[in-house]
Amino acid sequence: MNADTHVLDRPPAGAGVDWTIPQDWAAYTPEDHATWDLLFARQAALLPGRASESWLRGLDVLKLSKPGIPDFDELSERLMKATGWQVVAVPGLVPDAVFFDHLANRRFVAGNFIRRRDQLDYLQEPDVFHDVFGHVPMLADPVFADYLVAYGQGGLRALEYGSLNRLARLYWYTVEFGLVEEAGGLRIYGSGIVSSRGESIFALDDPSPNRIGFDLKRVMRTEYRIDDYQQSYFVIPSFEELLRVTVETDFAPLYAALDGLPDLAVDAIVDGDRVLTHGSQTYAAERRRG
Ligand code: PHE
Ligand code: FE
Repeated sequence: MNADTHVLDRPPAGAGVDWTIPQDWAAYTPEDHATWDLLFARQAALLPGRASESWLRGLDVLKLSKPGIPDFDELSERLMKATGWQVVAVPGLVPDAVFFDHLANRRFVAGNFIRRRDQLDYLQEPDVFHDVFGHVPMLADPVFADYLVAYGQGGLRALEYGSLNRLARLYWYTVEFGLVEEAGGLRIYGSGIVSSRGESIFALDDPSPNRIGFDLKRVMRTEYRIDDYQQSYFVIPSFEELLRVTVETDFAPLYAALDGLPDLAVDAIVDGDRVLTHGSQTYAAERRRG
């Protein structure tokens, strides 16, 4: 779920004031469940050695009593035991304040629809596969679970400061597209990567994108793209360190300081960057040529 875009400005008919709706698990068709199972099998085979140890450990919470799309009630019961989180269904993207309020209260909002068979590799709106397979394993990690709560609280603050675009970039480059340095090497933890077959390979193996050491201010200055693979990834040393630096830093002065600085392009490398890969950007250049 993307933190900075939304489509409606009030809950649609049938949704509560917090925008949640019943998942209505019984309404999924056999075809819907088969799509989940197909995507699950494909990614579960690809990700050992690529996804972070935390994400791989968390995948176990998705192994429920029945195959197919997880039943959110059963999933929430499991997650609740691990880290106190729940998964609630929403019709699609929700307003920012609603999204942050759910996070701050340990509720992860997930789309309840699943992509069609002709959209296995690409779709714009987050569906249940992205939201649940991509995000939920990390919610079973106690440190990351706390990070998302703090992020939700920070989101409510950012709204007051009018600095949501800055905070949204932090979400994008950590929760959605983050990489982490582990004992075995670089690993994926971002949900947008783990839920994509192509990007799971590209983010780690391709010489095109930059891979840069995570720096809070740097990330909050950096634009991102929503239409294709990222041109830069930011690498955290550990989840403990990500939590520590974001919780210990008061973002208000940072937001003020950033207002005086220009944004950085998606492919920029600047003084002070800890560059792990200086990307060739060949992939993006070829896509531009078409
Ligand atoms: N410390 C941040 C603030 O002052 C809150 C925050 C924590 C934001 C963790 C994101 C992640 O607003
Ligand atoms: Fe997401």
